[in-house]
Amino acid sequence: MRRPLVMGNWKMNGSLLANKALIGALEVTADDCKAIDVAVCPSFVYLSQVTELCSSSPIHVGAQNMCDQDKGAFTGEVSADMLRDLEIGFVLVGHSERRAIYSESDAMVAAKVNKALEKGIVPVLCVGETLEERQSGEMQAVIESQVRAVLDSASIAAFAQIVIAYEPVWAIGTGETATPEQAQEVHAFIRNLLAEHDAKIASRTTILYGGSVNAGNAAELFAMADVDGGLVGGASLKAADFSAICQAAQASV
Ligand code: 13P
Repeated sequence: MRRPLVMGNWKMNGSLLANKALIGALEVTADDCKAIDVAVCPSFVYLSQVTELCSSSPIHVGAQNMCDQDKGAFTGEVSADMLRDLEIGFVLVGHSERRAIYSESDAMVAAKVNKALEKGIVPVLCVGETLEERQSGEMQAVIESQVRAVLDSASIAAFAQIVIAYEPVWAIGTGETATPEQAQEVHAFIRNLLAEHDAKIASRTTILYGGSVNAGNAAELFAMADVDGGLVGGASLKAADFSAICQAAQASV
């Protein structure tokens, strides 16, 4: 049985004041939702603060990105060792905003996944197709190449340590969510891809859905057999909404 995971991706939002209020409001929910894991991914700048705020709660803290190199002349980058210094347990890798705005290739994403694994940080590998790709019938090919880039460089065994997040680009920040059936179809497709290599690992891999998850649609998404939780953007910034999403995951168990 896979344990549901609900992660908030705060993206480039937050402030010392707002983070404190948000974590304060989420603590009770995280305490109540014992059957699931709850995590938040603040900006690098706030990782220390949020780690401290979460020190006496079950809320995990993740980063939104990471460098594929160990250290040195990489101005503006943050290394896996730096994240480990702060005891950060998760890192988002290959978010579609990183792929589209910062030109991260499948190869770069795979390198980051490998570096995170080497350093003992759980990579949350984000995959997803654009609307154009979906409409032109390329959805499966796109998802497959994004997953295969990691399979080829890291091997199937690595997926015992990897979380996958399916985030259709057309559903991110648009208010247009994939239907539960659309999400299930892609999640099952991803799990089958992994099962071609190792059925046991495939059955244990956590696959999150992301893209306009909110308090109103979370329960029906989480009810799908292969949807193991959510990666939540906008709604993770509102305590009441994120709490309701966590409670929907808890109720799905
Ligand atoms: P929204 O929930 O705002 O659509 O963002 C999804 C996302 O990109 C999470 O990583």
